Amino acid sequence: MRATVLAIGVIVLCALTVHGDIPVQKNFDLNQFLGKWYVVGMASDAQWFLGRKDKFKMSTIIMAPGEDGHLNVTLIKNKVGGCWQMDFVYNKTDQEGRFKYHSKRWNNDNDVRVVETNYDEFALVHSIKTKGDEVTMLVKMLSRGQELRSELVKEFRQYCFAQGLNEDNIQMFPKEEECQPSRNWI
Ligand SMILES: *[C@@H]1O[C@H](CO)[C@@H](O)[C@H](O)[C@H]1NC(C)=O
Ligand SMILES: *[C@@H]1O[C@H](CO)[C@@H](O)[C@H](O)[C@H]1NC(C)=O
Repeated sequence: MRATVLAIGVIVLCALTVHGDIPVQKNFDLNQFLGKWYVVGMASDAQWFLGRKDKFKMSTIIMAPGEDGHLNVTLIKNKVGGCWQMDFVYNKTDQEGRFKYHSKRWNNDNDVRVVETNYDEFALVHSIKTKGDEVTMLVKMLSRGQELRSELVKEFRQYCFAQGLNEDNIQMFPKEEECQPSRNWI
């Protein structure tokens, strides 16, 4: 009996791992993905996030076409002490909707997938961050407006749960006054 339960446990675990596969939006259209997005929610298993996730505020992301078909990404945050901007180049990959970049600031490698989007309302973006042996995930819910339909918030949570995260890993952000960046982070 015990062996059977164990065997079932192992099968379920394997199934979960397969479930943890990260899909990419079918027929991803980069042009429609460009423009401004609000980060209305995030979820992660990383310590930097879990320690102070309730202190994070809603930020803004601007996606613009870069060199060589890459994506120029600008993150704007309203922080204590001012409005800050950080620029990234998300390198395109062979797979549409999947990008890679190295962050000098955090010295990590990032594998980013646009899991699902309808372009004019929401985009669910999953990043895998690797720094040495440490691998963490960051799931972002992007919205064209500062608010998001509750069905889509629910979908975001469901996705996080399917990735093995739980309620404690998830944070939705309150509406935040927008700001004009005055300083660069790097
Ligand atoms: C994209 O970003 C890079 C690095 O910040 C910058 O050098 C480049 O000019 C940008 N490209 C466009 C088309 O804005
Ligand atoms: C991104 O692409 C540029 C060339 O377009 C290349 O020099 C750079 O190494 C790439 N970075 C990553 C992290 O793939």
